[in-house]
Amino acid sequence: MAERVVRIGMLGCGTVGSAVARTLHEHADDIARRAGVRLAIARVAVRDLGRERDVPLARDAFTTDGVAIVDDPEIDVVLELLGGLEPARTLALRALSAGKPVVSGNKELLAHAGGELEDTAHASGVDLAYEAAVAGGIPLIRPLRESLAGDRVTRMLGIVNGTTNYILTQMSEHGWGFDQALAEAQRLGYAEADPSADVEGFDAAAKCAILASIAFDARVTIDDVFREGITGITSADIADAARLGYVMKLLAIAELDDGDVSVRVHPAMVPSAHPLASVRDAYNAVFIEADKAGRLMFYGRGAGGDPTGTSVIGDLIRVGRHLVYGGRMQSGEGGTAERRIRPIAEAHGQYYLNLHVEDRPGVLAEIAEVFGRNGVSIERVWQEGAGEEASLVFITHRANEGGFQATLRELRERSSVRAVVSLLRVEGDE
Ligand code: NDP
Ligand code: HSE
Repeated sequence: MAERVVRIGMLGCGTVGSAVARTLHEHADDIARRAGVRLAIARVAVRDLGRERDVPLARDAFTTDGVAIVDDPEIDVVLELLGGLEPARTLALRALSAGKPVVSGNKELLAHAGGELEDTAHASGVDLAYEAAVAGGIPLIRPLRESLAGDRVTRMLGIVNGTTNYILTQMSEHGWGFDQALAEAQRLGYAEADPSADVEGFDAAAKCAILASIAFDARVTIDDVFREGITGITSADIADAARLGYVMKLLAIAELDDGDVSVRVHPAMVPSAHPLASVRDAYNAVFIEADKAGRLMFYGRGAGGDPTGTSVIGDLIRVGRHLVYGGRMQSGEGGTAERRIRPIAEAHGQYYLNLHVEDRPGVLAEIAEVFGRNGVSIERVWQEGAGEEASLVFITHRANEGGFQATLRELRERSSVRAVVSLLRVEGDE
């Protein structure tokens, strides 16, 4: 049988697109042998035609006209690696509506418009694949969607942003300041063009929405995800966490709670014995709890052209094989479950609270009464310093967020509480 060539129209040829082009060239024969199809990048859309690019592609393959590529009848698959919402959304929808499968690595696109894209792909009967959109080079979406399809995932705790993990690692292990660590993360190419997407938690929130949508058969968008970044984390917080046997991480958390979905991104103290605590530098990991499979962890490089390009090529191979040999990806054909998104006030978490207090008899009892009345149970409490320097430090049991916030509001009003020195969340302890 003649070898079937699948012609790819690639939108974007930056960090990831150029890595995909180089790997497809370098591994062309291996891929053709394994997959039974040959993947060829036929046309490429970029913004700047004059830019020098280290890619094995003919100069006349490049254009600035993405629509012309999507509409080209010679193009079998559209690969979207532009980033951002527009024109990525319009081009992807145009391709899917015209019956062309789409592969994308664009978490922002999927976290905002995933439902619309999935519906369009269903209606046209074509594949939409986006393994690279979450945790770059780590196979995660396919294991969740296919390998674990017979199980019930109940909880995911993820370190899904390499930049923030790199910053927190440098701050805790080398005593760097936040600004120095961020500048180095940018120099190493981990950070987004606008690094506030990383440090304010938007990037992790997008990935959290995508993972929750797949794991819980739900429609979760980035706007559903409660989000706090790492800009408020100080070296003192990190030192306090270390002294108590915890490591500071930015976590994306997705839980199924009585059929509701709870999704949030925030910094958290993770016990140093937890598998996520050992995930350092720009590495990513997602810790999954499922009813039958138990606990699993997926670990690897969450960013960078080559690792991310590997995920993209895996999707291209699958989509290409379906075009040649038939079949479609599993992508929730049975529809989505009706799931309520729990507001953060109804979420449950564990908290670390350091209060600068008056050092006199009865203060601890007074403060403990506020915790108790709001339904927040204290796991540990101790005093640090004395007199003007006295602090009371609390670690709670898992408690309702609303109850904890009510406790905090009341404590701020008490004259015996001079200041809230720090408030941190704890995850993975119970
Ligand atoms: P880059 O910024 O490096 O590349 C973007 C490419 O898109 C460039 O080639 C740019 O052209 C082109 N482009 C942008 N806008 C337009 C437009 N309007 N018309 C035509 N071309 C356009 O991004 P990355 O390669 O880093 O990321 C691509 C996608 O992959 C993003 O969605 C990102 O979130 C995702 N991703 C990236 C990872 C990474 O480590 N970099 C990891 C995981 C996912 P030109 O070159 O001329 O500027
Ligand atoms: N800026 C992102 C990160 C790149 O730091 O993880 C991968 O999505």
